[in-house]
This record gives sequence, C-alpha cells and structure tokens, in this order.
Amino acid sequence: MSDRTNVAPNDLGAFWMPFTANRQFKKNPRMFVAADGMYYTTAEGRRVLDGTSGLWCCNAGHNQPRIVEAIAKQVSELDYAPAFQMGHPKAFELANRLVEMTPEGMDHVFYTNSGSEAVETALKIAIAYHRARGEGTRTRLIGRERGYHGVNFGGISVGGIGPNRKAFGTLLNGVDHMPHTHIPENAFTRGQPEHGAEIADELEKIVALGDASNIAAVIVEPMAGSTGVLLPPKGYLDRLRAITKKHGILLIFDEVITGFGRLGSSFGATHYGVTPDMMTTAKGLTNGVIPMGAVIASAEIHDAFMDGPENMIELFHGYTYSGNPIASAAGLATLETYKEDGLFENARDLAGYWEDALHGLRGLPHVIDIRNEGLIGAVELTPIEGAPTKRAFQAFLDAYDAGILIRTTGDIIALSPPLIMNKSHIDELIGKLADVLKNLD
Ligand SMILES: Cc1ncc(COP(=O)(O)O)c(C=O)c1O
Repeated sequence: MSDRTNVAPNDLGAFWMPFTANRQFKKNPRMFVAADGMYYTTAEGRRVLDGTSGLWCCNAGHNQPRIVEAIAKQVSELDYAPAFQMGHPKAFELANRLVEMTPEGMDHVFYTNSGSEAVETALKIAIAYHRARGEGTRTRLIGRERGYHGVNFGGISVGGIGPNRKAFGTLLNGVDHMPHTHIPENAFTRGQPEHGAEIADELEKIVALGDASNIAAVIVEPMAGSTGVLLPPKGYLDRLRAITKKHGILLIFDEVITGFGRLGSSFGATHYGVTPDMMTTAKGLTNGVIPMGAVIASAEIHDAFMDGPENMIELFHGYTYSGNPIASAAGLATLETYKEDGLFENARDLAGYWEDALHGLRGLPHVIDIRNEGLIGAVELTPIEGAPTKRAFQAFLDAYDAGILIRTTGDIIALSPPLIMNKSHIDELIGKLADVLKNLD
C-alpha cells in the first residue's frame, strides 16, 4: 500500500469544495484514493471502514463487479444519446425495473441527475399537474422543519435547515413548513417511535390558513436522514397521507436516502406501508457511481399531462443528461446487484444485530439519544456549550484516524453502512466508535 503515498496533489487551492470547511480541510486533507467492498483506502495507504456508504449512496458497497463492467461496456457501445425527442433502450428498461419495485400505481419515471434535481422536478410536476387539471390556483408547497431536499431554490425553500437558506435571499414564495417530529419523549427508541403521530395534524392548521385550493403538494422525507436520522412516529405518515388525500394535495416522499434498501425494503413507502403520489430518488439508484436521480410518479399524475395534440411536448422540463446511457447501465446493474445478492434481505436480517450494537453505546460520555431503523442509525451528543457541532466534528476526525468513516450533522453522528456488511463489520464500526466516544472531551 505504500505506493499510494504521495498520490495527493500538492496544490489544493483551485477546488472550492462543497459543504466543507475548505480552509480547515486544506490544512490537513483527508483523501481517499481507492475503495473496495466495505473499505476505502486513504492516500497514506490506510484502510477506512465505510460507515456511511459514501454519502448514503453506495448501498451495494464499493467496486461492485457488475456495475463496473456494465459501465465499461456501455461507454464503449453508446456513450451518449440526446435526451430530448430521442431514446435508447436502457433508459426504458431501467424505468420498467424501477416501477416494478415501487408501490402499486407508481408507474412512471422522470430522470434527473441528482436528488436536488429530482426534488425540483417533483415540485414543478406537482404545480403543473394541478394546472393541467384546471386547478391552477394550487401552487403553494409545504415542507417540514429539519427537512433536507437538496440545495436548489425549490429544495431549500421547502427544506427546513436554517444555514442552507439564510444566505440565499427570498427563496421561493408560497411555502409553509410543518413542525418536525423529533421530540424528547422518544429518546433511545428502537425503531419507529411511539409518540408524535398527532404532529401530522399541524398540517390541518396550515391548510385552514392557506386553503386547500391554493396548495399543490406536501413534501417530506419518510425518515429525515440529513438532519440526523429523525424517524417518523408510528402512525404519523398514515395521517399525513389521510390529510393530504382529503384536501386533494399531492404527497411527495423524498426517498433520496430511504430508497434502495436503507430501511430493509425497496423504499420508505414500502417499508412504512404508505403510498405517496410521487417519490424522489437518487444516490442508491446507481450505487452513487454515476450521478442519476429519478422522480417516480403515479399514473394519475402522468396521465393528466397526456392530453392535447400528440405532436406537442407535454412537459417543458428535462435535463441534457436525463436517462444518460452510462447512468442507465449503472442503474440496471445496481438494481440487479441488489436483487441477485439479496442486499435488502441482508439489511433486514442484520437490523436486529445492528440495533443491539448501536444501543450498546448508551451510557458512554455525552450520548443523549440513540435511534435506528433498518441499516441506519444515529448517536446524538450533548453539544459543547457555546460551540455547537464541535464535539461531533471532533468525533468525526477521531473516527477517521481510528479507521472508520462516520458522518456528523450538528452534534449527531449518523451511520448508514453499505448493505453488504456483515456482523464483523458492525463489531468493527461500533467498537471503534465506542473507543472514540470514550475518549471524547
Ligand atoms: C432526502 C434528500 N433529498 C435530496 C438530496 C439531494 O441530493 P443530491 O445531493 O444528489 O442533490 C439529499 C441528499 O442528501 C437527500 O438526503
């Protein structure tokens, strides 16, 4: 492994890194140069166990032969095909495979290149759908506090994260937010929390104030990942579904993290047994290897657009790389890997062991909550007074030195390992995290 030393470039100035403390990083960079299975390799040749599937995306682990081969084959066969007014077989094939995995009635796929674009696409479709049906006053959008829906203007407007919004002006007009569901009564819950289904009723108050005839859609993550693994209380999503249905409001599940096995089923919708009108996906769709996102919409939504003269474009929306051949090939190979290797089943089978290991961290210094579902988990720490986020970030740095990749958001450690993991990986990840926590100031 020593041949990997010195592969890092010596000038880090030009690259303005996303969601990164650039100056701090560049003083002491953390570089990955290779990955295989559950492990990354650093520029210094150290192995680091991936506790986060990259950024919640490499659900099938790294360097999966099927995906690598599919991409190589596709790039030599058909590298690019125009996305507008032309097609190529794999984009259609992937859409068919996708709708086979979704709840009944979720029948149509609109491709994007990221989760953020999937969110913008779904919000636009929601507004345009109502207009197509003659309900053009339905334009308002409702998100939720602590929701993350990517970084474009629609997404940060319906999103509920202050720092992601505050520097960016007026955002989108006509947006309301429901309260989040993260309440202290549920601390140290295993799986879905008992308390808080009634928080969904806050939507009724927003509807009463804004009137249903003005509201297009509600968007939520079935399980809010990016703000620290906030699980839906039992019954909460069912109530949201009932209220939105009653008022003719579309329900969008942002499944960018919960899609593709994270909770032990194909999607959050299947896991929680609640069917929305649209789902946004990305990340695990191509195992994170090639950028791709997708909106999956109900037949009712899709069919509302299939009107008017047949030579007319029905929806004036799309991206140069929508359904890109290489991304489609990667997506097909990824879905095949999930299926052939039984990865969702593995996530389900390991969930109990994962839960016990994670909750074994209870009682360690600063730990004020632990929560889990499927192969996802969070450990919440008390913030240092006057210095929020500092303690968890120190844990992240110490964990990296100890050979595990974790992710922190605020003072919460979030874990979402690849679904190929086994019990010994769980022991390694949680064991090393325990040592980090024991030594944290
Ligand atoms: C729920 C959710 N929506 C949207 C996004 C944005 O996805 P991307 O970073 O691919 O734009 C993310 C990313 O973490 C996400 O978790």
